[in-house]
Amino acid sequence: MAIERTLSIVKPDGVAAGNIGNILAIFEKNGLKLVAGKLIWLNRQKAREFYAVHKERPFFNSLVDFMVSGPCFVSVLEGENAIKKNRELMGATDPAKADAGTIRKLYATGIEKNAVHGSDAVETAKVEISHFFSGLELNDYERS
Ligand code: CMP
Repeated sequence: MAIERTLSIVKPDGVAAGNIGNILAIFEKNGLKLVAGKLIWLNRQKAREFYAVHKERPFFNSLVDFMVSGPCFVSVLEGENAIKKNRELMGATDPAKADAGTIRKLYATGIEKNAVHGSDAVETAKVEISHFFSGLELNDYERS
């Protein structure tokens, strides 16, 4: 089993509803450790950059509007198979299709306002983490 890191975002709907703690508790109870985390209010340029892979999709402008509508809680989670585990804990993108007990089933209100984002692969995780965190913030340095 590989120890991986993945980027997690509690989106503006999850933050506004007061669900940061509930969502982090689910990660921690399931073996995902918080390596770094912060509250950040994205601007449109940053949101467009982060979701650039979706720029041709019909929902792109609406997604950007949503992601700048309030603060997000961005964090780096670490653990065995963290990428897959996080995606299982989040559940399907559309909460109507998410399994019972998943974060999106519990806290999402629609396919766009779906409470959380998680990286989908090792390479994507590296890039997504670097959007928000420096090596210093990840404690990736010699402390002695
Ligand atoms: P996320 O996992 O962050 O990846 C892209 C986001 O776009 C997704 O969660 C949703 O917030 C949003 N999204 C995906 N599909 C749709 C859709 N069909 N309509 C509106 N928003 C969507």
